[in-house]
Amino acid sequence: MTKVKTAFFCSSCGAQSPKWMGRCTACGEWNTFVEEVIQKESRGGRPRTAGTGAGVASSAPRLIHEVQGDVLSRVPSGSAELDRVLGGGIVPGALMLIGGEPGIGKSTLMLQVAMQMQDQKVLYISGEESDMQLSMRAQRLGYSHPACYVLTATDTATIFRHLEEMRPGIVVIDSIQTLTTPQLDSAAGSISQIRECAAEFQRYAKESAVPVFLIGHITKEGALAGPKLLEHMVDTVLQFEGDHNHMYRILRAAKNRFGSTSELGIYEMHDKGLREVANPSELLLSQRDDPVSGVTVSATIEGMRPMLIETQALVSSAAYGTPQRSATGFDLRRMNMLLAVLEKRCGFRIAAKDVFLNVTGGIRVDDPAIDLGVICAVLSSSEDIAVNEKCCFAAEVGLTGEIRPVTRIGQRITEASKLGFSEVFVSKYNMKSIPDNLNNINLHPVTRIDEVFSLLFG
Ligand code: TYD
Ligand code: MG
Repeated sequence: MTKVKTAFFCSSCGAQSPKWMGRCTACGEWNTFVEEVIQKESRGGRPRTAGTGAGVASSAPRLIHEVQGDVLSRVPSGSAELDRVLGGGIVPGALMLIGGEPGIGKSTLMLQVAMQMQDQKVLYISGEESDMQLSMRAQRLGYSHPACYVLTATDTATIFRHLEEMRPGIVVIDSIQTLTTPQLDSAAGSISQIRECAAEFQRYAKESAVPVFLIGHITKEGALAGPKLLEHMVDTVLQFEGDHNHMYRILRAAKNRFGSTSELGIYEMHDKGLREVANPSELLLSQRDDPVSGVTVSATIEGMRPMLIETQALVSSAAYGTPQRSATGFDLRRMNMLLAVLEKRCGFRIAAKDVFLNVTGGIRVDDPAIDLGVICAVLSSSEDIAVNEKCCFAAEVGLTGEIRPVTRIGQRITEASKLGFSEVFVSKYNMKSIPDNLNNINLHPVTRIDEVFSLLFG
């Protein structure tokens, strides 16, 4: 076996050095040297299965429409939410990264996906849990699978030997940070190990057309080397996010070579694992008997799906000199902007008030169509008058206080009516894009915040 040659490179200026240095002598940056392979042994240990056309290995130029002739069909993952996020199923030979904070449920999600793919031979490789633990978890979640294998290994040479023997139809690796390749000396989880191991699996996936899921941890700041570094190497980056204190988990695609990145999958964490949430609106609305002030419901669109979101606001006189502003699930800067609009354009005196805003369910909303709902929640709390519980909002608010139209208004209104809302506040400029077959719905076309104010609180 020819010895592998490695060298250290400065990640800032690219200077090369035979040994690690704390400070780059070329550019003067500290702590930038990472180890990289510069010459490899002949790729022993890794299987070279016959390509099926999904790979990038073929070198001769081909006409693009001829290549399309052998496009491989997608494999359903057994989870409708995951399929939706992936753009309609798993693409053969795809390398997919699932990133998320520790404890959010990545292993649970992938184990469930593995166990749900009943007609595939699945290999679940874990460097974090023992096979006993995995088996116990699978049983506890209530699954059985005729051909799901577990392997507890962290050395890629061992893993590839088993892969060659077993020839699974799908591979899950939990997690990329635990893998080591014998070609490098650095510790598991270091930048160079992560990059090299991922590159090995990238080649494996492309050559064998076997889809590979890599699990990767990220910290709260997304800082830990790993998923960020891998983003350009993999075909799909999925983020599994959610609030540990809430049971909802959201799967979104941050990058997808085979589909859109606007789709969302929603799951709920139970004592028996993750359950798919097919109709999120019903769950996100809290159940109340009496109307309370400071609560509104907005019709948002996440991905392709309309969703009703509840916002709660609490406005009170500032106890200390500087008023406090805090927002959960909503951009704080946008909230400050909306408060400034209320103050400056509409004459509401809230500059000296504490304002707290919360989107219920632990969901983060970026859709600007929630603006009007946020403003009305703030006004409702400030006036201490409850908003009629049949009211729903769907409009953006501009800097001049004008109420602006939003996209796909028809879908939003339909969703609101499905869940029993009968009064929908929309921008007047949205009226011409509203289909006229909407029954049982009272539309309130508005252009200014004061109009909304007098309609709601008279
Ligand atoms: P896990 O999949 O191990 O997280 P990750 O791989 O992302 O680190 O899941 C961790 C959490 O999920 C754990 O803290 C408890 C919770 N959980 C449940 O609530 N119910 C369940 O059935 C399972 C398996 C986990
Ligand atoms: Mg895990």
